[in-house]
Amino acid sequence: MTLLSLNQISKSFGGIHALQDVSFDLNKGDIVGLVGDNGAGKSTLIKILAGAHDPSSGQVILEGQAQTLSPPANAQGLGIETVYQDLSMIGAFTAAENFFLGRELALGRGPALFRLIRRKTMLDTAVSGLEELHIDIPGVRSKPVERMSGGQRQLVAIARGAFWGSKMLLLDEPTAALGVRESKEVLNLITRLSARGLTIVMVTHNLEHLWSVCNRVVVMRRGRKAADMPSASTNMEDVVAYITGAKEGLQGRALELTS
Ligand SMILES: Nc1ncnc2c1ncn2[C@@H]1O[C@H](COP(=O)(O)OP(=O)(O)OP(=O)(O)O)[C@@H](O)[C@H]1O
Ligand SMILES: [Mg+2]
Repeated sequence: MTLLSLNQISKSFGGIHALQDVSFDLNKGDIVGLVGDNGAGKSTLIKILAGAHDPSSGQVILEGQAQTLSPPANAQGLGIETVYQDLSMIGAFTAAENFFLGRELALGRGPALFRLIRRKTMLDTAVSGLEELHIDIPGVRSKPVERMSGGQRQLVAIARGAFWGSKMLLLDEPTAALGVRESKEVLNLITRLSARGLTIVMVTHNLEHLWSVCNRVVVMRRGRKAADMPSASTNMEDVVAYITGAKEGLQGRALELTS
């Protein structure tokens, strides 16, 4: 089932064409690996899906309806959450506090006792959210995230995204700074989330990680979609060839034919 379609999305910054005529469909439960060289347009594409950028042209269709995803609160309201590389967490706060960061509405106003009770509810909600995903971090109730390992922090950030994002989770380099064991835990979590029906788009430079979880690979090159293939029907060599331009992309070829 198609969850979201991008139709001929372009994005320019002044004279720079960061994205040109990018179209693809995301199906429910897809784990799409988004790859490409530096400057290929991966982050720009993620930011369009996250509502952080407005496309210069093109259309986004979510569950059959044209939608404006920006500003980010709009995308979030539609069930799309993003985990950026910096994780957007406050180090001195606990996992639970970070879960509710920027959602202070949930905390509310009112008498101190009221807020205290809500705080307790928030803590319990966040901790059971982590437990439900089998994320086991010693001392998670009281430990500030800055005292967690990089892998644990990434798990908390992804769990927070999954907690609020009912439909789609966008991950920018979720394993970039992690060791082998930590990466494995993060990749396992990504697989578990997709099994629950969450659609995941993951930017990665690590093709092994891509192959271990993604059912599809989308290659970006110079702002265009160079390839879009089921990962089962391609291989790393092919993907690298599309990344470097040794193999021509779909749109590149179409352009040549028309020019
Ligand atoms: N806010 C911006 N203002 C101007 N140019 C931008 C902006 N954001 C991105 N670009 C340009 O758009 C192009 C695509 O950038 P983007 O960040 O999407 O690439 P990327 O594939 O994420 O690269 P990397 O692997 O280095 O993160 C680049 O030429 C970049 O310089
Ligand atoms: Mg980037």
